[in-house]
Amino acid sequence: QADVFTYDPGFTSTASCDSTITYIDGDKGELWYRGYPIEQLAQNSNYIEVCYLLLYGELPSAEQLTDFQSRVTRHTMVHEQMHNFFRGFRRDSHPMATMVGVVGAMSAFYHDSTDIGDEWQREVAAIRLIAKLPTIAAMAYKYAIGQPFVYPDNELDYASNFLNMCFSVPAEKYHVDPALSKAMDRIFTLHADHEQNASTSTVRLAGSSGANPFACIAAGIACLWGPAHGGANQACLEMLREIGTVDRIPEYIEKAKDKDDPFRLMGFGHRVYKNFDPRAKVMKESADEVLDLLGIRNNPTLQVAKELEKIALEDEYFVSKKLYPNVDFYSGIILSAMGFPTSMFTPIFALSRTVGWIAQWKEMISDPQNKIGRPRQLYVGSDKRDYVELAKR
Ligand code: SDX
Repeated sequence: QADVFTYDPGFTSTASCDSTITYIDGDKGELWYRGYPIEQLAQNSNYIEVCYLLLYGELPSAEQLTDFQSRVTRHTMVHEQMHNFFRGFRRDSHPMATMVGVVGAMSAFYHDSTDIGDEWQREVAAIRLIAKLPTIAAMAYKYAIGQPFVYPDNELDYASNFLNMCFSVPAEKYHVDPALSKAMDRIFTLHADHEQNASTSTVRLAGSSGANPFACIAAGIACLWGPAHGGANQACLEMLREIGTVDRIPEYIEKAKDKDDPFRLMGFGHRVYKNFDPRAKVMKESADEVLDLLGIRNNPTLQVAKELEKIALEDEYFVSKKLYPNVDFYSGIILSAMGFPTSMFTPIFALSRTVGWIAQWKEMISDPQNKIGRPRQLYVGSDKRDYVELAKR
């Protein structure tokens, strides 16, 4: 056994960083964007205003907000040739696969905003990504269901525009319900940033090499796709549907506790929160509101979710391991009630998180102390040894 490489704790890399953007207290179940509690932002703000806050550090004045909103709105269309890019994918491709490909390809279409050394180009890249991700996510959805792409409508607000691009068809105008649009906007806000989670760390690490912002965000989307991370919202709703009825919950609770069974309760547990995820609380209230609005309050999946949460929160295993519902536990119920297939849940998480990824990427780029990310390892492999000829093995 080789001498274990002594780890130099003084080595800094993007594996750990100072940040002024988002604060999480996992024990208290607190989440602040630039110091503002997520509950207050979800209640009183909106996603475009939260984007400004995350990017520039302060809540905007009315004039600043109008200017920012107008800059984002004017960048919502994608280059017409990007339509062809979608057509290279199979119709049954997962929308996340399409988004990883198309967002990565943005650097080929918008090469006048890829020079990270140029402040103006960094700013334009940020606006383009925030503006175009909903369009790209909606196009990925339309392509998957064989419907024509719907162009952005700059008369609509950010969330209404996304709903319209997803659900409008040329043959029939889609009525954007303001209450649904507000619920959609709240979901965007709740997912906007979350400190140094796996996908944000991926974006920071990719950015530390000087890669262009579109490539970095594509890397973040790829990482978010995992079922242990952003893919959990899709996995959670599929799990709730598989459970199906309240009387089958105990069977799944036991599976989740069985160390030999890889099954985990999706939407439960968190790397940081050892108390309720504050986003899950807001999401749960929103689920009631949306299902009430749609007249499906006694939605069986919501009943299973609420009973599962109740049973799990009284179970010694979950209590002892401090496992609580996270942001993904209720989001899928709302998105499904809105009409989205489960395959669109993580793309919606990705478009929401794009502003957080960009804010973190900008912070890392502007940090003079930042070195290329290269987390160290503790070598525990074979000792040095000589090559053995094939005939002697
Ligand atoms: C997100 O990091 C972020 O901020 C992410 C995110 C964001 O906004 O970016 O918040 C979004 O990714 C939320 C998490 C979504 N994932 C899921 O809901 C998938 C189900 N949850 C897990 O796979 C799990 O809880 C993780 C991956 C989220 C965290 O796993 P950890 O790091 O193993 O959690 P832990 O160390 O606190 O686990 C403690 C124990 C372990 O058992 P022991 O090794 O102590 O015996 O609890 C067990 C875990 O095995 N455990 C679970 C469980 N989650 C943890 N057991 C059953 N079901 C679960 N869901």
